[in-house]
Amino acid sequence: MGRLSLIFLVAVLWPTECAVISTETLGPESCRDFGQGFERAFSIPGEVAILECPLQVHYLFNPAETPYSVTWYDERTGSEITALEQSVMLKKTQVWFFNVTMQQQGKYTCVVRTQSECYKQATGLVVTEMTSEDCERPQRGLQRISAHVNDLLVCPLRKYLKSVDSPSIQWYKNCELLQEDKKFVPNEDMLNIRKVHLDDAGFYTCKMTFRVAGVVREMAETIECEVKDEFLMKPQMIEPVNEIIKVERGSSFRKDCVVVVRGKGIPMVDVIWKVLLGSEEEFISQNTSHRVHQKPMNESRTTDGFLMVRTLSLSAVWEEDFYLNFTCMASSSRGQPSAQISLVPAGASQQYLNQYYFNTNILYQPVHLINMCIFISSETCHS
Ligand SMILES: *[C@@H]1O[C@H](CO)[C@@H](O)[C@H](O)[C@H]1NC(C)=O
Ligand SMILES: *[C@@H]1O[C@H](CO)[C@@H](O)[C@H](O)[C@H]1NC(C)=O
Ligand SMILES: *[C@@H]1O[C@H](CO)[C@@H](O)[C@H](O)[C@H]1NC(C)=O
Ligand SMILES: *[C@@H]1O[C@H](CO)[C@@H](O)[C@H](O)[C@H]1NC(C)=O
Repeated sequence: MGRLSLIFLVAVLWPTECAVISTETLGPESCRDFGQGFERAFSIPGEVAILECPLQVHYLFNPAETPYSVTWYDERTGSEITALEQSVMLKKTQVWFFNVTMQQQGKYTCVVRTQSECYKQATGLVVTEMTSEDCERPQRGLQRISAHVNDLLVCPLRKYLKSVDSPSIQWYKNCELLQEDKKFVPNEDMLNIRKVHLDDAGFYTCKMTFRVAGVVREMAETIECEVKDEFLMKPQMIEPVNEIIKVERGSSFRKDCVVVVRGKGIPMVDVIWKVLLGSEEEFISQNTSHRVHQKPMNESRTTDGFLMVRTLSLSAVWEEDFYLNFTCMASSSRGQPSAQISLVPAGASQQYLNQYYFNTNILYQPVHLINMCIFISSETCHS
């Protein structure tokens, strides 16, 4: 602590002593300057505004092990912000303005000091009078939701929920308070919108009320909501369907993995073949000159969506390929359906196959059993 206050003393004395050569008033010149941060806080006179220190201290040092202090300076006056000022509070890495005024708009610098280092970065507070009659605020963030499905908006104030006492959030569309109905389900920091329609686009405001020193205060943010007329269903695996396939040793073999994605938009789906070798999963080579490889994925449009095909190819089936599980997987943000095939020698006995099926309790549904039965050996099925 003694060292820290010494640094601080130097910081205070420095400008006076070196007034001729330096106009630095924000602390020691050794402070590493990170310029101005990208984030700014937007507020309206009378509301609460919170400025967050833009320095990402965990990239600079380990905040759990290194003691550090945070101070703030008003760039216009160069003076340190203290909690002595009315309607200002310092809280960890934040400055709170309880009753923002137009005069408080400006640039503020956050200085973080450890015993041996000092860093600084500026951030801005933008205060604008409310002018719109529609209760929409002058500054707002954009959020996009998808038509035809249920979707949600997220209140940007959620990042402050942990810092305030007894917060509660209300949602508005334009000036109208939203209550739970067939369309909207406000759920704290989220607003669920059922079966999104193009008309649901517009301005939504979330207002957070909370207590500070026994007084109820509020903050709000407006979201400009855009509705995109695109939606994509979960990828669906058409082929394979957990099959056991009889092949002759030495013959060539190909199997298509077929995946459909219904809807409009850009499907971010990757279809790949892999194989389980012992306990290791390995991707099948994409080098088409390898004996066992997978072809490039072929994506095409259909009337109601997209079709993806990826072919597994064995130029010659070897003994070592039998009884392996070749799995095709479609990976996407909406799930990862997969299915597998297993190759068995053309002469494999029915006894083995039965054993194989009934050991694999959940994977093989009865309906598949029927299909596969026809596929594998029509005689056994008919008897
Ligand atoms: C905020 O400050 C203004 C101007 O000083 C004052 O008129 C107003 O009552 C204050 N609002 C609150 C909620 O304290
Ligand atoms: C594909 O495999 C062949 C044979 O192993 C090798 O010579 C060739 O360099 C590989 N090609 C690529 C692109 O890796
Ligand atoms: C990809 O699939 C389309 C539609 O099935 C087909 O017409 C086309 O030939 C395929 N392309 C390749 C490279 O396999
Ligand atoms: C292949 O998958 C089936 C079903 O999951 C499993 O019972 C069998 O042990 C697997 N075989 C190998 C070689 O991993």
